[in-house]
Amino acid sequence: MAVFKEMLYGGDYNPEQWPKEIWLEDMQIFNDAKMNSATINVFAWALLQPDESTYDFTMLDDIVEMLVENNYQIVMGTSTAALPAWMSHRYPDVNRTDFYGIPHKFGHRHNACPNSPTFRKYSARLANKIAERYGHLENLVCWHISNEYSGECYCDNCAKAFRIWLKKKYDTIEAINQAWNTNFWSHTFYSLEEIVPPNYLGDGIPNGKASFAGLSLDYSRFNSQSIMQNFIDEREAIREFDPKTPVTANLMGAYKPLNYFEFAKEMDIVSWDAYPSFDTPFSYSSMMHDLMRGLKDGQSFMLMEQTPNQQNWQPFNSLKRPGQMRQMSYHAVAHGADTVQFFQLRQSVGAGEKFHSAVIGHVGNKETRVLREVTQLGNELQKLGGALLDARTPAKIGLIFDWDNYWALEYAIGPNVELKYVDQIHHYYKEIYKRNIPIDLIAIDSDFSQYDVILAPCLYLLNDKTAQKIENYTKDGGIFVTSTMSGLVDENDNIHLGGYPGPLKEVAGIWVEEFDAMPMSKKIPVHFTDTMGHGTLLCDIIHLEGAQAIATYGEGEFYQGMPVITSHSYGKGQAYYVGTMLDDQGMETLFNQILEATTLTSLYLPEGIEVTERCNDNGRFKFILNHLGKEQQLSIDIVGQDLLTDENVSNDLTVAPYGVKIIKLA
Ligand code: GLA
Ligand code: ZN
Repeated sequence: MAVFKEMLYGGDYNPEQWPKEIWLEDMQIFNDAKMNSATINVFAWALLQPDESTYDFTMLDDIVEMLVENNYQIVMGTSTAALPAWMSHRYPDVNRTDFYGIPHKFGHRHNACPNSPTFRKYSARLANKIAERYGHLENLVCWHISNEYSGECYCDNCAKAFRIWLKKKYDTIEAINQAWNTNFWSHTFYSLEEIVPPNYLGDGIPNGKASFAGLSLDYSRFNSQSIMQNFIDEREAIREFDPKTPVTANLMGAYKPLNYFEFAKEMDIVSWDAYPSFDTPFSYSSMMHDLMRGLKDGQSFMLMEQTPNQQNWQPFNSLKRPGQMRQMSYHAVAHGADTVQFFQLRQSVGAGEKFHSAVIGHVGNKETRVLREVTQLGNELQKLGGALLDARTPAKIGLIFDWDNYWALEYAIGPNVELKYVDQIHHYYKEIYKRNIPIDLIAIDSDFSQYDVILAPCLYLLNDKTAQKIENYTKDGGIFVTSTMSGLVDENDNIHLGGYPGPLKEVAGIWVEEFDAMPMSKKIPVHFTDTMGHGTLLCDIIHLEGAQAIATYGEGEFYQGMPVITSHSYGKGQAYYVGTMLDDQGMETLFNQILEATTLTSLYLPEGIEVTERCNDNGRFKFILNHLGKEQQLSIDIVGQDLLTDENVSNDLTVAPYGVKIIKLA
């Protein structure tokens, strides 16, 4: 069921930073732009609570009253993402200690220690008071808890809480020693008190590596859960007065420190902030949207923030070209967004974000390109109404994204510094993307049986339960594709002994003896039956144990002639193992072969054109997006009506620069 009754159109609105005369101008401008929603109270803790015992809602009351009068759907922040100065001074336990062991003073935002008793008490109390006051409002459509939860803390309170977490997980110190293999470098612990968080002063290494990956991995899990607990604290405090309005926290794509699959289970709807830079590949932006949709098994998400024009925090803050903001908004919708929201509605006069664009710029009037484009989009979204709400993406390919793997793979010292988890996932994603075949980003514990193909590159960390699930999936007829750096370690980051890829050996029908590593600038030829490509980064030395080689290494290295890509019939299914990082040509040959056994068809379109599909009870909708600022022609097998223009569309199309078509199929 759809969470909202129409698409929300609005964004972060900070009237508390402005005199009241300005508020009325704002309303006029937003109404004319057909906005129907505002996200308020995201950073106002210091105003709402001037001291320990006083709460002052006068200003927020006025803001809410104005929005209600103007019929806005309110997304209500809880304001707990930036501490008030008095709290930070009076109760230093709220301040974080960073990776270098430096205890922080008051300042910045996203700054609370997640295990501070003071922070936990006051953040929940504030959320509770806001819910008591506004939770009954009909205009309230969503709770936005905190803001962009992020970072880590290494303070003494966190250390204490970590020891309790460890005790609960392992029970005995012997079990911890075993899990982390502590006889290495004389780390054997005799009591929990001896264990310290793995920061720079301990076992952490500044480049993101870890000398005890088992320990660092547990700390990542612990930190992620601690922050998630802050969210739960506030959600529960809200629920005391408001049992039903959906609750979210705005996420940040493939943000490393927080396990979003775990986090999303605690939310009613996922929301996220999309800030691609001028050179982010379109396939990467698509992948981030798909990841956000995947967090709750394909449920629609909120595009909580995007900038109407330029950002200010990138190295190069390019303007969005005419039409590009609109196109990027629909890009999110094409991948599952049910809202289009901006950061921010009025551009700040001072402090750190004064050069960040907004719907209303510093000129303060409506005579801007940005506002004209925002208004055009507002009119279109109003026309779309609820047609696309809760529409799903019919994907038959699932690509595993897993935070445990993300952390563990990158904590490992060796074999290759250029090995980056998200890049490897994207490498597979973009091969499917360029064929315009729908794909889901999925959790490792999701139901594989709904997919014809499961892609699991760099499935480095693998427990027996998941290995069993993969075997069953393949046996029952699934196509399973994995790669080098898979099946190597268990959940504690200890090697699965007995040959790589550990528990995947049987299903893959191979044994990997060694892996060579090289910079991506070095290429090793890969020979398929009729064509060739190249491999780089890692080259596995593979022995066949039931599988067939579908490609072998070419000249250049001592493993010339040995298998590099293998295929194994297993039960009713097929398992592929890709022993290197293939170039685009190699990927294309490989996936032509893999997809041949499915009913999925590739649709190659001109560079910069993307097609996606969403379906709901209202019908099937094809989105045609032009990511480039030039007109493009295409011929494509689609017949229907464009929801944006009411034009009938059949097969041959002209797509304007940054153009978008949303075609309801006949
Ligand atoms: C993030 C934050 C916002 C704002 C924007 C600027 O997404 O949530 O408060 O700082 O970045 O791009
Ligand atoms: Zn802390």
